[in-house]
This record gives sequence, structure tokens and C-alpha cells, in this order.
Amino acid sequence: MITQRRSSDQAIRILILSKESQFIDQFYRIAGEDPSLFITCHTARLNEVVSLAYQRRSGIILVDFRVTDQLTALVGKLREALPDKVIIVAIPITDVEKARQALLAGANGFVNMPLEANETAKIIKQTYSVEQKRLQKIVGEANRQDDRRGQVIVVFSAKGGAGTTTLAVNMAVSLQVYERQHVLLMEGSSLPGDLRTFLNLKPTQTLAGLVQKHQTDNLSAILGAVQLHASKLQVLLNTEDFDESAVFVRELLQMIDTARGEFDAVVVDAGSLADPHSGSLLEYADVLLLVTEPTLPSLHRTAQFLLAANRNHFNVGKVQLILNKVGARGSIDIDSITNTLQMDFAGVIDFDDRLANNATNNGVPFVLGEKNSRITRQVRYIAHLIAAQNQSPPAPPANAEVNRLLGRLNQLFSRKETIPMTGVA
Ligand SMILES: Nc1ncnc2c1ncn2[C@@H]1O[C@H](COP(=O)(O)OP(=O)(O)O)[C@@H](O)[C@H]1O
Ligand SMILES: [Mg+2]
Repeated sequence: MITQRRSSDQAIRILILSKESQFIDQFYRIAGEDPSLFITCHTARLNEVVSLAYQRRSGIILVDFRVTDQLTALVGKLREALPDKVIIVAIPITDVEKARQALLAGANGFVNMPLEANETAKIIKQTYSVEQKRLQKIVGEANRQDDRRGQVIVVFSAKGGAGTTTLAVNMAVSLQVYERQHVLLMEGSSLPGDLRTFLNLKPTQTLAGLVQKHQTDNLSAILGAVQLHASKLQVLLNTEDFDESAVFVRELLQMIDTARGEFDAVVVDAGSLADPHSGSLLEYADVLLLVTEPTLPSLHRTAQFLLAANRNHFNVGKVQLILNKVGARGSIDIDSITNTLQMDFAGVIDFDDRLANNATNNGVPFVLGEKNSRITRQVRYIAHLIAAQNQSPPAPPANAEVNRLLGRLNQLFSRKETIPMTGVA
């Protein structure tokens, strides 16, 4: 049994995915010789790799090709689930085709088998360094200094059906039309989205198409794929075809990062937290609009998200809570939520199923079709708030403030019987 020395903070942290003890030992030996490499753990269980990678803060997933019969599928799945990790595959030196397939599926590099200690360590370090620089460029704060960098507003919910797409669409149109911004609206979830229905658009080009043509960092190609809505809002849709190759989150981030130089704001419909894209989008966003319904399941999930986010040192300050469907039958009334919890919402939107359904059925956002309605005024208010922040970014709320809110949310779920319900039959 080989004992691993203690990790240094600077070391590259490697998770080994293999069932071959000889291979695993060899790697512990290579890392033992090189203080810049650290093995965080090894496993042969495919279904625990993702959680282990995050738990052990591994930067590299090293995949032994023998761990599965379907290497390409495995690499593809890891790529999607671990967008910010470097994937390196160990493959026999003679099997060029396998290496090519692994790279196409999203691996960042490969090491040749049989392993040669110096060469293997060198390749791992090189691949990691190149990939880190690229990731920092896409996700990092450090490179946000270009002259014009539109605000990236990600709309999402902790639970589907809360009104994420409704808010994203009406927000984007409001920013474009009423706040006179130059706005791009994009689909951000991994599955085909609903923007085409909400806006009555027929895409000629899609996000998936840009990925297939390897043009995710080509500004003119991206602008060429944009659809112009009657409101002058520009829209990038995803494919309608569930079978068409998926957009990986790093490609999505690259497209957003490339496009934002051209716009005042990029609004992304990220769907619900269940979507595998949501984690990276949340990290990347400047503003997060978290849509909640006044129902216990929705409030509960929202609170769980905020608690988890806070525990994991996520910047909760950029989250703005929006309460949608206020006054829907059977929901918890807003006074109870605000009085009991003193929960602060950046905006509220009433329940109005007639207007909401009409808008989707006709493909005309209600902020355009029902200009004088109450829900239009409410969404425009939120848009105005966000636009104002675009001019002068707000100081993030003090930690104490966030903790108070989280404390109150926590209480809601331990004492939920104290909350008066309305409309319960
Ligand atoms: N304020 C509202 N009042 C009434 N119905 C709404 C409201 N907002 C959204 N809806 C309806 O709720 C359903 C889900 O909305 P949608 O925006 O598709 O949610 P999500 O994108 O979060 O799944 C749709 O039928 C929509 O018309
Ligand atoms: Mg949606």
C-alpha cells in the first residue's frame, strides 16, 4: 500500500478513475516523485466520480480507458457534469483512434500507456496549465476588463414551472424597449427551450449549430445566428431537436462571453437548478434572478438553495429573489411570507393566468401586448432596477444581512405550521 504525502495547496489535484491496481499504484508513485502532483483519491465506480471530484476538489480526472467499454460516452458524460475539470485519458500508444474519439468527446488530453513517469507527469502538467488558462479566461473575474462587457443576467428557479421563461422573456423585452438597452436573450438550459414559443420565432440557426460548426468563440458567426424579434430584441435559440448533439456548458459560456461584448445586457433563461448547466451559469452571471412561487415546495427549494450556496461560499449577494404568481389560489399569501419571514424580494409579480396564457398562446410577451397591466408594471419595475445596477453595480449586501435572511428561511421550514395559508379548501 502506498501512502500519499500531504497535499500542498499549489499541487495539481488528480482523481484516478481505474480498476487496475497496478495502474493506480504507478500513479501514486509518479505523484510521490513530483510535489506538484497530488492524488486526491481513486475509484472504479463511474457513478461516484462527479461527487468525489467536487468533494475532493480534484482539478484533473484521469480516466484509465479500461474502466469502461464505452469510453467515448463516459468522457462525454464527465465533460458535461464537470465543465470546470480537466479530463485526461490514459490510452495505449498504439490506439490512435481511441485517443481521437476521446478528444472529440471532450477530453482535454491523453497520456500514453505503458506509462513513462517523466513523460506522463509532463503531459499532465502541460494539459492542466493550458486548460486552466482557458477556463480562467471564460469564467474568471480577472479578465472582465474589456471596454464593453454587457451585464449577464441569469434567470433561474430552484423548481421548474415557477415562471423562469416568463420572466426572462418579459425582462429582456423590457430592457430592450423601455430601458433602451441593446439586449440579447439566450436559452441556457441543456434541453430544447421555450423561447421560440413565447416569442413566436422560427430558428434558422441555433446554439447547437454554432457548436457543431466550432464557432462558439466567433462573434460574427454568433451574431449571424441571432434572430431579430419585432421589439428589436435579439434572440439566440437552442435546437428543437432532442437528438441533436448537446451544447456543453463550457461552449455555452464561451458563446455568452463572446457575445456580451456586443450588448448592454445578455439575459439567459437557465431553467431550473435541476439542469446540469445551471451551476456554471450561476458562477458566471453578474446578476441572478431567482424566481420563486408562493408555494411551500418552491419556497422550500429556494431556501435550500440559498443555504447550500451560502455554505459553499457562493456569492449570494448577486442573487435577487423574485416572487412570481402572487395571489394564485391555494398559495401562501405574500403578507405571511413577508411578515413571518421578513423576506426581501427584489420584485413581485401577481398571478394573472389570463394574461400569462394569452401572451404565450399569441407569442407576444405581455409587456408588449398588455402594456397597462399590473404584471407589466411589475416586470418593468424589476427591469428598471436591474438596468440601474448596470450603470452602477451595487455593493453586495453585508454578510450579516444575508445570514439574517437565511436564518429566517430556515425557521420557515422548522416551524411551517405557523404560516397562515390562504385558499386552502
Ligand atoms: N405571473 C403569472 N401568472 C400566471 N401564470 C403564470 C405567471 N408566470 C408564469 N405563469 C405560467 O406558469 C407556467 C410556467 O411558466 P414558465 O415561464 O414556462 O416557467 P418555467 O420556465 O420556470 O418552467 C406557464 O404556463 C406560464 O404561463
Ligand atoms: Mg422555462
